[in-house]
Amino acid sequence: MNAEKNKKIYIETYGCQMNFSDSEIVASVLTDHGYSATDEIQSADIIFLNTCSIRDNAEQRVKKRLQHFHALKKKKPGLMIGLLGCMADRIKTVLLEEEQLLDVVAGPDAYRDLPRLLEQVESGQRGVNTLLSMEETYADITPVRLGTNGVSAFISIMRGCENYCSYCVVPSTRGKERSRDAGSIIRESTELFDQGFREITLLGQNVNSYSWQEGENEITFARLLEKVARINPILRIRFATSHPKDISDELLETMATHPNICKAIHLPVQSGSSRVLDRMNRKYTREEYMERVEAIRRIIPGCAISTDIITGFCDETEEDHGETLSLMRWVRFDYAFMFKYSERPMTLAADTLQDNIPETVKDRRLTEVIDLQQKLSYDSNQRDVNKVFEVLIEGDSKRSGDHFMGRNSQNKVVVFPKIDAKPGEYENVKIQSFTSATLLGDATKTHLFV
Ligand code: SAH
Ligand code: SF4
Ligand code: F3S
Repeated sequence: MNAEKNKKIYIETYGCQMNFSDSEIVASVLTDHGYSATDEIQSADIIFLNTCSIRDNAEQRVKKRLQHFHALKKKKPGLMIGLLGCMADRIKTVLLEEEQLLDVVAGPDAYRDLPRLLEQVESGQRGVNTLLSMEETYADITPVRLGTNGVSAFISIMRGCENYCSYCVVPSTRGKERSRDAGSIIRESTELFDQGFREITLLGQNVNSYSWQEGENEITFARLLEKVARINPILRIRFATSHPKDISDELLETMATHPNICKAIHLPVQSGSSRVLDRMNRKYTREEYMERVEAIRRIIPGCAISTDIITGFCDETEEDHGETLSLMRWVRFDYAFMFKYSERPMTLAADTLQDNIPETVKDRRLTEVIDLQQKLSYDSNQRDVNKVFEVLIEGDSKRSGDHFMGRNSQNKVVVFPKIDAKPGEYENVKIQSFTSATLLGDATKTHLFV
């Protein structure tokens, strides 16, 4: 502890939930060394940008923000600027001039080193560490919860990824896959529950391959989930992301057994064409994906299924694209994140395939996918009208202080007129109507739809 530093840090985060979780680890490491976190950029002595490389537009956004920060730095000499996260290792090739203006650069596995790197800056040098690690999981670090609603929290249970989907930059930015000590996950979850949190999301790029050896016993993801679910029946558990190639029946049965494990699975399909899936190195076919969806429907009736889709991947034909649309209709996804393919350096696709679908075609296919998903989401919401869901209240609705907002087990946002209750409590809500992203209803005493 070095309290005389007393410098204020401001962290702006881009990318996936895991990156947001990492920002909480950074805040924890630095507050342990006498820094304090602020959510006001004007009062910050150090601004960190926690970056994402997943698509080119993510990097462009970061570049714009850095230019803005450098303008701030001109007005406020002594302001330090640090770049964290998935772009850290690539800054030399992407940022050129701006890179010179950065005081600190730290990759996803180097956050424990930040106090030392900042000291280097104090003594007039730049602080750079972008080494990836085989072991780092930050298991012993209790994150400082940033921007929390006090009800839901996220816990990273593993780091890195070794699936090498051919389009994806994550294996190169985040390194080897490693699971975090199960005991530390249970401890952190229990502490969160004791502090009043009521929903925990366990995070990893492919949670199904979580594995921790405890003596003779392997703790699989299904067993870990069960252990967290047993902490308390009023603690809800979610997780993301599941890879279709290894979402097991054991996991689905665990979900079905515990009412507090939420009935929502994010199962990114990427494409409905087996030929494209093969080029993407996803290691499953269209038929295998459909078989997993059937297993979900059979074992967990009423479970929401959401997905990720990429349009215009290398060599994608109109027929391949049509197969994506037909698969979407068959599954009837409740929700989807949809992207057009963006070639990334240091990926298998960049090295071995041609990014040969014209932008206009990628755009048109993306629009078709988005239009279809809008219809499917509408139908999904329509099916919920007159059902009663148990809703965990997160706080006031954004639009009105007279309404609460919360989520049902299927992860849909539900808004309803306030009753005598508090955030963190559960309420049964009967759905009356909906907008594109929200179910609208009224608190009710009638029975639950399960
Ligand atoms: N680990 C998760 C996905 C993490 S990245 C999984 O395996 O499903 C989130 C999503 O970004 C991916 O599912 C994919 O749809 C999209 N994505 C990743 N790389 C991309 C690229 N190069 N171009 C466009 N979309 C991409
Ligand atoms: Fe990327 Fe595939 Fe790993 Fe997901 S599973 S992070 S898409 S390489
Ligand atoms: Fe982006 Fe890195 Fe997450 S590339 S999506 S921040 S793992």
